[in-house]
This record gives sequence, structure tokens and C-alpha cells, in this order.
Amino acid sequence: MSIKLFTNIAKLYTMAGGVRKKDRLDDASIIEHAWMIVADGRVQEIGTGKAPFVDGEIIDCNNQIVLPGFIDAHTHLVYGGDRSNEYRKKMAGVAYLDILQAGGGIHATVEATRKATFEELYNKAKATLDYMLTCGVTTLEAKSGYGLDRDTEIKQLEVVKELQKDTPITLISSFLPAHARPKNYPDAHAFFTYQKNEVLPYVMEHHLAEYMDCFLETGVFNAEEAKEILQIGKDAGLKIKIHVDEIASIGGVDVACELGAVSVEHCMVTTEADSDKLAAHDIMAVLLPATSFNLGSAYARAKMMLKHGVTLAVATDYNPGSCPCSDFLWMLRIASRGYKLTPNEVLSMATINAAKAVDRDHEIGSLEVGKQADFIVMNVASFDEVIANMQKNPITQVYKNGRKVV
Ligand code: NIG
Ligand code: FE
Repeated sequence: MSIKLFTNIAKLYTMAGGVRKKDRLDDASIIEHAWMIVADGRVQEIGTGKAPFVDGEIIDCNNQIVLPGFIDAHTHLVYGGDRSNEYRKKMAGVAYLDILQAGGGIHATVEATRKATFEELYNKAKATLDYMLTCGVTTLEAKSGYGLDRDTEIKQLEVVKELQKDTPITLISSFLPAHARPKNYPDAHAFFTYQKNEVLPYVMEHHLAEYMDCFLETGVFNAEEAKEILQIGKDAGLKIKIHVDEIASIGGVDVACELGAVSVEHCMVTTEADSDKLAAHDIMAVLLPATSFNLGSAYARAKMMLKHGVTLAVATDYNPGSCPCSDFLWMLRIASRGYKLTPNEVLSMATINAAKAVDRDHEIGSLEVGKQADFIVMNVASFDEVIANMQKNPITQVYKNGRKVV
């Protein structure tokens, strides 16, 4: 058995006690002057004061703080090309959906991803993961959706499967066939039938995805269409995540409730009535603040949603268009400022609540006896400093399953 004792932890942000809602979002369950014993990759014991004797390795945390590894519950990790050329258009006032309608946006990335080799996609995504690990990300969800056709969707998902062999970050795959309306399928129903018959069976047979996602948005897929494709995924055994309310509120929350989705994501324009529904159905809302920042659009009404009892998470939405940002710490800094939430509130949203958004809150998201020893060591006096100070990454070490990976 491998045993490690981590001593001299100034503040251990355990996030213990389950997902945070309402006023509890600010509770980081901090233990001061803490120690933690990790046995075979899991938390075995936590305490404060004088550490007990252990027959194993002793790691002095030098009076730094320790917190659970971050969970990035929404990314578009694997893609080809670059969309920097859209930036000037955006600054000139051209809307995100207008760029898409004109054949750019997601369509441009689809073209580049189709052209890219497996190796090119792998190398680009691997570099991103290596960087995200230095930002403290220990679990990450990755969506497909830049292929729309069989070969490219599968290529993206297989890149994720291959990456899992070479990164300590736990990767969770989501199949996102309905990310844009493909030019060769003007009829959504025909496109879904193609996905159902030609792509999904392969995805399921090769265990390439855990979730099915859809971009439910004005001019992309409407509620009825989203329901059709998501139901196909659900029938095949996939859990559901949905992009909703990014630009317009057009019934996405109702679809999520009807299908029993794990999460709805974006929620920039989610209404009070829909927030009540999310709370009643215990559906997570994954907010993506860096997307609001990058698009210059509205921030989700996090405080309103909280008041209505919605469980909130935050994620990067890392992708080449609406959010080319893989810096998890920057995303948290934007979240705090954009939503007017405290550092500990955004920390809850990025750890224990984000764990629920990927249906793993029993395993990760907090440092409690029996859970995976995924954690970050930071050279600051408190997590407040990380958010208040925008100019450095204070992470000195990252552990995954008790093993030092940064
Ligand atoms: O979540 N909105 C849909 N999908 C991504 C953006 C993808 C892109 O612009 O390439 C998002 O923001
Ligand atoms: Fe997205």
C-alpha cells in the first residue's frame, strides 16, 4: 500500500458536505493547520494540529493552501484550425450567430477539423491539456461537434480516448452531433436519422461517449429538434447535457426537464420561471463566464438563479470561437467579477458542484475520506488572493489520485 502524509497545510479547502446551493455556496469547509493522509490514491484521513505517525512518505506543504482539483465540466477540447480572423468582425459589431449563418464560426472549425489529421488534432489538444493541468484541472469534459459527419465526429472522440492514455486528467466525452446545421443536410430530421444509423452505433460500441449534447439556439436547432436528437442519444444509453439560453431563451430548459438532463450549459438568458424548473428537477446549470466576456454578451444571472435554488457550476467552454480560453484561473476571476460572487462561491462551482455536473460528485470535487486524492497546492494565504490578484498562477503542485503530476 502506498501511503503519503501531507503536513503543514495552512488551509485545507475540503469542500466537504455535498453540493452547495443558495447561501451555502460560500462555504469551503476550510480546516486550518491541517494534514491529510492519502492511501492508494484516496483520502484516508484528514485532521488538524499535530500530524500522526505514518509509515510512508511525508510531504511538507510549507504552509501553503490545498484545495480539490478543478473540474472543467464544459470544453470543446479537440478541434482543428484557428478563428482569430473573426475577431475584427466581432469588434466591428458582427454578431456570433451572423458569422455562423454566413458559413463561418462553427462551420469554419468543422472544415478545419475535417481536414486535420488524427495526429494534428491529438497534438493540439495534448498541448492544451498539459497547460490546463498547470492550471489545476484534474477532470475535464470534452465535446465533439466539429465534424458533423461520421468520420470526423468519430475522429474527435477517438482523439479523446487516445489522449486519456497520455494525460493524468480524467477525460469525459460528450457526443455533440447537433452543433450546427450541416450544409448537406438542410432537413434536421434526415441529419438526425444519419447520426442515429451511421454514427451513434459506432460511438456506443466503442464506448466513445458518456453524454449526448446539442446546441439548442435560435437559428441552430430549436427545442423540438433538440428533443429528437437528444432522445436518440438517451435511448442509446447516453446521459444528457444541453447548450441552452446562450443567446435566446427558446425552451431549452423544458427539453432538459423532459429528458432528465444532468445539466444545462451557458444559461446567459435563463428566466426566473425556468430557474424554478431547473431547481425542481435538480438539473445543474453550468455557467460559462469567459464566453460572456469574450462575446461581450450578458453574464448569466447567477445570483437570481441561486435565489431560485438552482445548483450552479462554472466551466471554461474552451473552444476556438466563442471562448478561446483554456486558462481555468482566469475563467474563475471572470466568474467572480461577472457574477459578483465571492472567491469561495466560484470555488464551490468549480469543484464539488462541477463534480455533480459530470455526475461524479461521489468520487471527486471535495477532499473527504474515501474520495480520490485529486488536489492542488497553492502558494497563497487564501483562495481570495488567487481571484483578487489577476497576474499570476500560484499553483506549485498538482496531485492526481495521490500522485504528483505538476
Ligand atoms: O458553447 N455555442 C455552441 N458551442 C460553443 C461554441 C463553439 C464555437 O464557437 O466554435 C459554445 O460556446
Ligand atoms: Fe460549448
